[in-house]
Amino acid sequence: MELSTFFAYGGMAMVSLVTAQLGAGVLRTAADAFTAYQCRRRDLELLDARILVAKREMAVRQSSDKAWEGLRKFRVRWKVAECQGIHSLYLVPHDGRPLPPFRPGQYLTLSVRLPGDDRPTIRCYSLSDSPKSDYYRLSVKKATPPPDAPDAPSGKVSSYVNDVVCESDILDVKAPSGSFYLHTDKETPVVLLAGGVGITPVLSMLNYLVDVQSHRQVYFFLGVRNGLDHPFHQHLSEIARTHDNIKIVTCYSRPRSNDQQGCDYDVQGRVTVDLIKQYLGVSNYDFYLCGPPAFLDSLVTGLKAWGVPKTSIHQEAFGPSRTSKPVAVPDACEKSEVQFAKSNRTATWDGSLANLLDLADAAQIPIDSGCRAGNCGTCLTAIKSGSVKYSQDPGCDVDDGCCLPCIASPDGPLVLDA
Ligand SMILES: Cc1cc2nc3c(=O)[nH]c(=O)nc-3n(C[C@H](O)[C@H](O)[C@H](O)COP(=O)(O)OP(=O)(O)OC[C@H]3O[C@@H](n4cnc5c(N)ncnc54)[C@H](O)[C@@H]3O)c2cc1C
Ligand code: FES
Repeated sequence: MELSTFFAYGGMAMVSLVTAQLGAGVLRTAADAFTAYQCRRRDLELLDARILVAKREMAVRQSSDKAWEGLRKFRVRWKVAECQGIHSLYLVPHDGRPLPPFRPGQYLTLSVRLPGDDRPTIRCYSLSDSPKSDYYRLSVKKATPPPDAPDAPSGKVSSYVNDVVCESDILDVKAPSGSFYLHTDKETPVVLLAGGVGITPVLSMLNYLVDVQSHRQVYFFLGVRNGLDHPFHQHLSEIARTHDNIKIVTCYSRPRSNDQQGCDYDVQGRVTVDLIKQYLGVSNYDFYLCGPPAFLDSLVTGLKAWGVPKTSIHQEAFGPSRTSKPVAVPDACEKSEVQFAKSNRTATWDGSLANLLDLADAAQIPIDSGCRAGNCGTCLTAIKSGSVKYSQDPGCDVDDGCCLPCIASPDGPLVLDA
């Protein structure tokens, strides 16, 4: 039954019940009748909210990682500046067909044809709002050159999104995916930890908990540099003001003179495990973390040292940057020939590179890539013969007979279909 129908029946039933009780003398005055009406109306509203929560839970549980195959066209409905260097895109399906739900914490993969490039560039962006029936939201930070290469160009796709993309532009998008998501079937207390633009997946989780009126105890720690870099400031303040079970702690590492402690931010400094301990007292929470590598490394090490079991720590990095060294495959074979069949080239694996994608790049063999971290599936390549070893478990489906070169090394002589 539709909720509106249910409510209409409920409203009629309520009026009849109150009228009957008035007639039978159970309710003596019109004031009694009005109070009874209000109580029953509140009961029905609560029931209505519970049905809504159950519906959303069901939709999120049913959401599959393959909501559609390949690329689907989305129109940028709104583009909103969230703070310095971060814009949100609200995407609506161009075909007007329904929008599949996703798990809070998952990401979309964009395939962007940049001006002047003959091949699309692939990048992943976390969905930054809870599942909604009419839009997906992404929030993208313009990647600036690293301190040791200040003259390098800014990030390709993030600059394009921030500087070029306009409302009503069309983007090619792969379905929501990813294994970093809030476990919505649990009732345990949660700690959400975000560094900088790493806020996006954990904000989706927070917004989901707000949407379903969860009673879970929630701590949300956000670390940014200062007020200029503080995304979703008003939205987060409003959540903290209106929810007793949600505590938001904002840390500014380098506040400006006009940033006010106690108003704009809570703590001067970074998000540390000592700070988390001060707020939580005990460690039996589920922790969800997203941020830069140093943020993740220090917090995960500290949480483990505090006794938090590995199974209660869920984390996502936004992939190795162009400048950071990817994780090498442990026990990788020392020397091996790798044949790239389509390109008719052979390269020697000598263990000096971190993975097969780096080997292909070095040999100028084109393999599309996105996250370069085993998450997006863009580099999926067929193995014609031989086998590979992985540095970590793939975060996406890998078809039989294929591999993800970005996290793989050869396990002996190998022929790839690239
Ligand atoms: C699962 C997942 C989710 C993600 N979610 C988000 C999200 O929600 N929001 C978000 O903003 N990002 C997110 N990312 C990161 C995003 O996918 C991109 O990695 C990011 O936007 C940078 O891509 P780009 O094309 O802009 O930069 P690239 O062009 O790949 O450049 C990366 C960096 O290298 C620098 N650089 C370029 N050329 C050189 C050079 N010659 N020498 C030295 N440095 C150079 C650039 O200045 C830039 O800082 C996510 C990543 C993953 C894997
Ligand atoms: S580039 Fe994303 S899985 Fe390899």
